[in-house]
Amino acid sequence: MKVLFVCLGNICRSPTAEGVFRRAVEQAGMADTIEIDSCGVGNWHVGKAPDARAQQAALRRGIDLSALRARQLQEHDFIEFDYVLGMDQDNLRAIHDLKPGNNRAQVGLFLDYAGTPGAEVPDPYYGGEEGFENVLNMIEAASDGLIQHLKRGL
Ligand code: 4NP
Repeated sequence: MKVLFVCLGNICRSPTAEGVFRRAVEQAGMADTIEIDSCGVGNWHVGKAPDARAQQAALRRGIDLSALRARQLQEHDFIEFDYVLGMDQDNLRAIHDLKPGNNRAQVGLFLDYAGTPGAEVPDPYYGGEEGFENVLNMIEAASDGLIQHLKRGL
């Protein structure tokens, strides 16, 4: 099972989702069955490590994002991944625009798995530190929900 998290720049929300979900998967004993990656719909930050604020917020919860590097969503991702999950409605539109006709990927919003269908993880880039804490709280809840969903399908 392969899960891809998608945001705009791949330096704030989706790398946070990658790190938080990876830890949740490890804690659930599912690391051998679930592969995780993240990317952005834009290319401005390709090759960069996650935003320093995102790294610091994640580290406060014991999650190290420093090795991650931004990349852009590609058509091939829809062949490779089972789930392609956007953080907000703009991401979701961009994902659908790139999605080829023939593929197996399930496309949706990450927060659909937090029991709040249609809800968005808000972009923290232009805000303060509390925005990054808010993102982490939402992503932790959605990660637990996604694990329960995937367990039902295994
Ligand atoms: P992300 O946040 O999509 O969560 O990685 C952003 C990062 C960079 C920009 C916008 C959002 N930007 O405009 O450069």
